[in-house]
Parts: sequence; structure tokens; C-alpha cells
Amino acid sequence: MHPAALALLVVLSLGVAGYALGVYGFLPLGEAVHPDMRASFATHRNVVYVHVFASAVALVLGPLQFWSRLRTARPGLHRWSGRFYLGVGILLGGLAGLFMAFHAAGGRGSRLGFACLALAWLFTGLRAYRAIRARDVAVHRRWMIRNFALTFAAVTLRLWLPASLASGIPFEVAYPVVAWLCWVPNVLAAELLLNRTHDPSLGRRTAGKSPRRQT
Ligand code: HEM
Repeated sequence: MHPAALALLVVLSLGVAGYALGVYGFLPLGEAVHPDMRASFATHRNVVYVHVFASAVALVLGPLQFWSRLRTARPGLHRWSGRFYLGVGILLGGLAGLFMAFHAAGGRGSRLGFACLALAWLFTGLRAYRAIRARDVAVHRRWMIRNFALTFAAVTLRLWLPASLASGIPFEVAYPVVAWLCWVPNVLAAELLLNRTHDPSLGRRTAGKSPRRQT
């Protein structure tokens, strides 16, 4: 990945993780969110804390996993950090996020949007894990790119939502749309990247070579 793009990923991811840790670590629950969200958070406080803190692990560790120099120099660190990313961030954060999706503010549209995001997050994480257990590094990398594009929904949601509110769209209208907008374009961008890249470590077929099934 281009160093400038990686730097931007790191800054935005750490910014949102820092927001989550600061607000949920030090302020009363739901202090910084819309009153509709605060009311639902009160009914499942522990799940909210599990989701916020576990998912923050994914945001902090995710960009590190794409840092190729670190991966080459410290493969052991990459493996351990990957285990935390998948086991704590995705599995724990994703299951808690899936539970919260059924209670999300904004009605059926946002509940479905967040539930699909959680399922896609868990699914891509599982595929990445299974690929690396099978020692298929290229396929593992492809699924990790898709998975992190979904993790990054935590960042894009916090760009789309304030932008929508600042442009005068009421929360009730904006939120169900943002529940989809925060992740669908990310997945499309990841697919575009995977299809256009010429990085051999992602297992792209080159012209003339025998076709090999890729996922
Ligand atoms: C990518 C999969 C994710 C899913 C499916 C998901 C799902 C959800 C849901 C359903 C809510 C509650 C919304 C409501 O009640 O209206 C929520 C809130 C929240 N999530 Fe996630 N989330 C994901 C990723 C993350 C990540 C990576 C973080 C990183 C810290 C995060 C941090 C938060 C925070 C802080 C809140 C509370 C709302 C706020 O303060 O802005 N989530 N999430």
C-alpha cells in the first residue's frame, strides 16, 4: 500500500478508536450520541461496552497488518496481532455489533444495514482465517483487505453522519441511509482495488498463465 494512503488509514482509524476509548472509557454511557441511541444503549450496556472496546482493537491493529515492512521484519508480531484482530476485534466486536444491530436507532433500514455489516464482517474474517490456516497467503490477503474495508465503516460512518446532519438532513432520515453508506462503498472500493492491483502477493493472474480459482 502507498505510504501516504497507509498514513491516512492509520490517522483516521486511530482517531475513531481514540474517540471510542475516550468517550466510552470516561463519560457516562451514551453521552455523545443521539437520544434515540442513548435510550437503546441503556437496555444493553454491557454489550455496548464489549462492542466499542473490542472493535477498537480491530481499528488500532488493522492498519498495522498491512504494513509490509513490519510483516517482513517481525512475522511473529504480525501473527499475534492478527490473532487479536480477528479473535477480539472481529469475533467479539462483530457478535456484539450484530446484537446491537437489532436494537439500533433509525428503524428497520438501519437495523438491516448494521446487521448485514456485522455478518459481512464476521464472514470475511472467517474466510481470512481459514485461508491463512490453509497457508494460502494471497487469498488471506484478499479477504483481509475486504475485512478491513468493513472495519473502516467505523470511520466512514463518522464522516457521513456529521456531514449529513451538517447539511440539514434530520437524524431520523440520515441514519438508516448512513447505516448502508458507511460500508457498501468501502466494499466496492476494496473490490476495485483487488481487481486493478498488479501486486503479485495478492495472487492476481497474469496474462498467459493458466487460470487459477481465486476468491
Ligand atoms: C464493522 C462492523 C461494525 C458493526 C456491525 C457495528 C455495529 C454497531 C451498532 C449496531 C451500533 C449501535 C447503533 C445504534 O444503536 O443506533 C454501533 C455503535 C458503535 N460502534 Fe460499532 N459497529 C462496527 C464496527 C465498529 C468499530 C470498528 C468501532 C471502533 C471503535 C465501533 C465503535 C462503535 C461505537 C463507539 C458506537 C457507539 C456510537 C458512537 O458513539 O458513535 N464500531 N456499532
